[in-house]
Amino acid sequence: MNPVNNPFTPGAGTPPPELAGRETVLQDADNAIKRTLNNKIAKSQIMLGLRGVGKTVLLNKIYQIAEDLGTFAAIFEASSSQTLPETMTQPLYRLLLKLDRSRKTENDIKRVFGLLGQFARLFKVKIGEFEVGIDPGILTGDLALDLGDLFVLIGEAAKSRHTAVIILIDEVQYLEEDDLAALILAMHRISQKQLPILLFGAGLPQLAKLAGDAKSYAERLFDYITIDKLDNISSALALERPVLRENVKFEPEAVGKIIEETEGYPYFIQLWGSLVWDIAKASPITINDVVRATEKSVAMLDSGFFRIRYERLTERQQDYAKAMARAGKLPVSSAEVAEIMGITVRQAAPIRDEVMKKGMAYSPGRGLISFSVPKFEDYLRRNFIKV
Ligand SMILES: Nc1ncnc2c1ncn2[C@@H]1O[C@H](COP(=O)(O)OP(=O)(O)OP(=O)(O)O)[C@@H](O)[C@H]1O
Ligand SMILES: [Mg+2]
Repeated sequence: MNPVNNPFTPGAGTPPPELAGRETVLQDADNAIKRTLNNKIAKSQIMLGLRGVGKTVLLNKIYQIAEDLGTFAAIFEASSSQTLPETMTQPLYRLLLKLDRSRKTENDIKRVFGLLGQFARLFKVKIGEFEVGIDPGILTGDLALDLGDLFVLIGEAAKSRHTAVIILIDEVQYLEEDDLAALILAMHRISQKQLPILLFGAGLPQLAKLAGDAKSYAERLFDYITIDKLDNISSALALERPVLRENVKFEPEAVGKIIEETEGYPYFIQLWGSLVWDIAKASPITINDVVRATEKSVAMLDSGFFRIRYERLTERQQDYAKAMARAGKLPVSSAEVAEIMGITVRQAAPIRDEVMKKGMAYSPGRGLISFSVPKFEDYLRRNFIKV
């Protein structure tokens, strides 16, 4: 079929042609933003899910909802190479500019700009071009306290303008423990003062435990929302609706086969959809087209998506990952992985922690480990493990 009309969008954070199966998540986000706007208590929300399930897409969508509802939103991504002040200062600055309709003539806004300037200086953020105003000099250099002060001032400025501020943070699992603790503490202060700031975070499943370790009350402060792979009905919608808009159909068996191969993981659905579209000669798309697309998809994943992630691991981390894949069905116990590697549990523990810190694995239960990249074990088995 003509690749120009291909509706599918395999990628990172790229909006899918059909955002299937996420109605409840979006409705909950919409409700929470509206409650915040109406001075009602709403809990911040943390979305947890494996790689490629659609967390970034959801955050972007919630950003859009927030702006459409007339609130002011800032969105950014945490990374392992930057501190929280480094990642958040610029987005907060842009947010303040939006909030500041009268261009720094009002005292409360002047103070927030001043505080942000001091914040940036204290935490050694290169602030580049922007001008942040007079230094009010009330910060301490302790991120946990200062971020709270900054949030309180921003919250008060939003409240007096009868609006709300929505902060969206992606890849939250990459924050260092102290930064994560500071963020949680700042949100805690906001919720105690009932100021209109709402946080939406997204990250890998281990984030729930990281947040709990950083601050034990995190679980009461946030609603944790699991973003799962799509069920069969949503998977079918994600495939059928976009092609139907191009006047193309799938044979029912073809859809079934894609669901079987992708297990309903959104990124894989987009990839299979995109390749089968290019392969099929005409409508309807058949199961044979899917068989050919599967071969191509797997080859592409093995040389790209999976390989890049594999190569980010050091040799001993790769050995750990391969031992996990050898174990059979995942999740597997850390003890079993150590046994397969022929080392003690104590020797294996730091390697396991590194693999988790890199965002490749997570613990779905006490003493257990699994990959945070769906079907990664199949890749390892195909390419490295002889049977
Ligand atoms: N509900 C959905 N229905 C169909 N496709 C989807 C859906 N959500 C996301 N996708 C597609 O899945 C892919 C991955 O989405 P996204 O990048 O948001 O995932 P992610 O969870 O942020 O992954 P990562 O953890 O790697 O950052 C994209 O190609 C996107 O278009
Ligand atoms: Mg993402």
